[in-house]
Amino acid sequence: MIATLAIEAGDLPLGGGLLALVRPALLLLEPGGILAVRSSAASVVQDLPSWCRVERHRYLGYEDGRHLIERGSLGAPRGAREWGYRLKKPSAAEVVRAVPMPDTANADTGFAPRGARVEPGGPRYPFDLLERDRVAPPEVAQLYDQAVAAQWDVGRDIPWDTVGEHDPAIESAVCQVMTFLAENELSALYVPSRFIARIHPAYVETAMFLSTQLADEARHIDVFLRRARVAGGGLGVSSVTTSRSLLSLLEYEDFTEAAFVLSVLGEGTFLDLLRFVEEHAPDPATAEIARRTRNDESRHVHFGLAHVRHALSTDPTLFGRLEAAVRRRAATLHDVGGVPTPLQDSLTLLAAGSTEPRAVARGHEAFRALLEAMHAARIKRLDRAGFTAEQAELMSTLHTANFM
Ligand SMILES: [Fe+2]
Ligand SMILES: [Fe+2]
Repeated sequence: MIATLAIEAGDLPLGGGLLALVRPALLLLEPGGILAVRSSAASVVQDLPSWCRVERHRYLGYEDGRHLIERGSLGAPRGAREWGYRLKKPSAAEVVRAVPMPDTANADTGFAPRGARVEPGGPRYPFDLLERDRVAPPEVAQLYDQAVAAQWDVGRDIPWDTVGEHDPAIESAVCQVMTFLAENELSALYVPSRFIARIHPAYVETAMFLSTQLADEARHIDVFLRRARVAGGGLGVSSVTTSRSLLSLLEYEDFTEAAFVLSVLGEGTFLDLLRFVEEHAPDPATAEIARRTRNDESRHVHFGLAHVRHALSTDPTLFGRLEAAVRRRAATLHDVGGVPTPLQDSLTLLAAGSTEPRAVARGHEAFRALLEAMHAARIKRLDRAGFTAEQAELMSTLHTANFM
């Protein structure tokens, strides 16, 4: 009998360490594979055959000082063993190359990390996002690596001492904008968090990316609230328009629809808003806050676009469903007015830089131009996602006046 694997066990008794050599060796074999155990312990002659019976391995006998065991199939872990691949660079993107994501995931592998061999008989888990095409676009691990490297510190990285004293009307405007931003950031924290627990761990890189997004949003909430309070202005008004718009975001149950409406349309529109705040910020600290949060947002938009584009490329019926998702939301918000007035006025004053009437007229123009720029950029993003010009125009027009 030719053994496929052999181990040297010396005089180890079965209950004194022998199994720590035998069991791992058997795990390396497929059912039907043969293990040879060279042993000089007399007790093993009796003990090994009975252990094999209990564990449903076939004890084949003792020849030339070796016990031969045929590996049974009971409890054999599924999947091939991962051995011999050395990560060139320990990044998440490299891990995905080494251990690719499956097309569909098995709900009874639970929290077993992708690549682990899983014993049969485990319980089913309630994950319901089980298809790679709907969960994990090809660039997700790379986006996760970038997000980890790009984390920043609200206390250390903002030049807080540059805020200084502003005209109270301008400081009030900044505080109102910060209040609006923080409220919207709260929705950007809560909406993706609802999907993490539904993602199968075979696509853990998506859950990991979303967790960086949550950390980003937490930092954004923090930094906007600090800016509102750092010069004594405090928070402004929360509008019903904002409240209704953000509630409608919480109501999406489909991951792709939520990613589309939140990230492609909402966070996409925020890129223009934050650029506007940076451009018209009355002090370097406020400008830096807008610049840094915008950098983070562009990652969230990138992931949203990658997710949607990938899902659309594998399921053309999704175009219609995403359009319907936008229409549904617009219908629930049809009686909501335009951009919340406290925000309109604050953005106008921010761009004016003073309450001097001619400056305010310029601020008003800048605000109108912002709305047009947002519309144009949304259309461009929708075009990049693969929508027709007509669909893009319609969906951008139907997008909430709350921006998010
Ligand atoms: Fe954010
Ligand atoms: Fe975001």
